[in-house]
Amino acid sequence: MRTGEKWIWSLIAIIALWAVGRALWQLGTQHEPDPGIPFYSTATPEITRAGSDLYRQLNCKNCHTLWTVRDMFQSVPAPALDGIGSLRDEQWFYNYFSAADPQTILPTRLKPQYRMPSYAHLDEQERRTLAAYMASLKVQDWYLDETRQAEYEKLTGKPYRPQ
Ligand code: HEC
Repeated sequence: MRTGEKWIWSLIAIIALWAVGRALWQLGTQHEPDPGIPFYSTATPEITRAGSDLYRQLNCKNCHTLWTVRDMFQSVPAPALDGIGSLRDEQWFYNYFSAADPQTILPTRLKPQYRMPSYAHLDEQERRTLAAYMASLKVQDWYLDETRQAEYEKLTGKPYRPQ
């Protein structure tokens, strides 16, 4: 090889290395695409309609957040209900709504006027509908820990420390 040729080949090699390096660096620093909203519902249209009607009529949103809807003047630190169906099952919700004293099932840290009220006075069918609706409110696996942590902190008022 003549000196001129060597020089050109070296230049080409440097450019090629630079291009590969840059591509690898870009791959490494690329951001994950926005995964979107983690909450979804598995309810049938009938359960969704009946459940959200009850939810509205009974003013659950006075104390809870669901689908980011909450009372503007809300100051009750009740757990958000988005994804709650991934933390508990339908039978649990049914028992909870049917309990004369829900705090025996789930202890509270709040003053009486802010606590979860008893819905034992509702028809059985209405309690079943509410339970099915709650159980359908799911969260994607990648957001399950955050959901569990937020619930724990609302219920206890303490920072969450996984065991
Ligand atoms: C007066 C405020 C208030 C109202 C109204 C209310 N809740 Fe609650 N709810 C709470 C609080 C506070 C808790 C947490 C337990 C406690 O402190 O009693 C709770 C707990 C819950 C839980 C259990 C959450 C968990 O972490 O597992 C569910 C489910 C629930 N409520 C659903 C409802 C539904 C459905 C309605 C309407 C039918 C409703 N709540 C109405 C205040 C309220």
